[in-house]
Amino acid sequence: MFEEQIQMVDLHGQYLRFKEEIDGAMQAVIGSCAFINGPQVKTFAGHLAGYLQVPYVIPCGNGTDALQIALMALGLRPGDEVILPAFTYIAAAEVVALLGLTPVLVDVDSRTFNIDPRSIEAAVSERTKVIVAVHLFGQSCDMEPIMALADACHLYVVEDNAQSIGADYTFSDGRVRKAGTIGHIGTTSFFPSKPLACYGDGGALMTSDEELAARIRMIANHGQECKYHHQRIGCNSRLDTLQAAILDVKLKHLEEFAEARRQVASRYDEALSSCGSWVLPAKAAYSSHVYHQYTIQVKDGRRNALQQLLKEHGIPSMVYYPLPVHRQEAYRHISRLSGSLDISAGLCDAVLSLPIHTEMSPRQQQYIIEKLLDL
Ligand SMILES: Cc1ncc(COP(=O)(O)O)c(C=O)c1O
Repeated sequence: MFEEQIQMVDLHGQYLRFKEEIDGAMQAVIGSCAFINGPQVKTFAGHLAGYLQVPYVIPCGNGTDALQIALMALGLRPGDEVILPAFTYIAAAEVVALLGLTPVLVDVDSRTFNIDPRSIEAAVSERTKVIVAVHLFGQSCDMEPIMALADACHLYVVEDNAQSIGADYTFSDGRVRKAGTIGHIGTTSFFPSKPLACYGDGGALMTSDEELAARIRMIANHGQECKYHHQRIGCNSRLDTLQAAILDVKLKHLEEFAEARRQVASRYDEALSSCGSWVLPAKAAYSSHVYHQYTIQVKDGRRNALQQLLKEHGIPSMVYYPLPVHRQEAYRHISRLSGSLDISAGLCDAVLSLPIHTEMSPRQQQYIIEKLLDL
């Protein structure tokens, strides 16, 4: 066993590194008692907009709310179809279903884990209104063909960027944009383990469209612009001032966090590439990678056995995700399936995410690597 406890994400270690700054920011909020919509919320939104180079950032309560608000802002009608990947976190399918829309599930690229633009094209019908591109595990979906298809078919694109904030997408003409700012609306989550994370729940939406931004702001605030005058049905979804203050500190270090995880990933790449028991995560040519997860695919049905052996040596690992959306009880009968979805189903049986975080020491990682190669 390694002398310290190995964790998937070391939130406490990271906190200790920035303790003074974070404690100071939190004390300032507590001292002011401006817990709801305090000035730090606006300040953080402005800083995030500057970092992402997008005109409008609207903070909200969490990443699932952000997706729901995004879809509520697009003027959809019950029965309209929303295309999303079958291999993903459940949030997007959940809000689609809650709004009375139909999830249309399509397959992903087996190397990048992200939605495959070709499967989107095959799934478009007369009822299709939106594509949800989920930027999984730290890199952007291939946005150029997705935007071209959306343009041609008059569809909206919502980017779920909960896992890849900070990743850069490069277009074929060399233009570079931050993931989450390319589609009509981007959403993100500040859940504690995410690349940009607070100490509770938090989320945000981003857009370049002024009208959409106004609608989003109104929906997140009970559908009102003017207090007690409700122009549309909305919800109550706010980022706490305390969380905004913490996020504003962490945003300054976001690039450094990504770089730390990239170094961990490159040590895994180097050490694990010679072993034929797994497939290492692929880096797409069009996206930088912020390695929210380092996810291998274990061959020959040995994933669960390997996970158990790692556990016996004090090494945690996670299966993101054990079931594709179309095999989830709640979604099995309400989704339209496009194509075989075999890649998504196969990934669910093979993927294993290894510990990766900003505080991982080379010694700790060496222990993980040695055990992986021994088992
Ligand atoms: C891809 C993706 N979308 C949405 C969410 C939902 O975010 P939240 O937990 O803040 O609601 C998550 C969180 O795990 C996620 O990974």
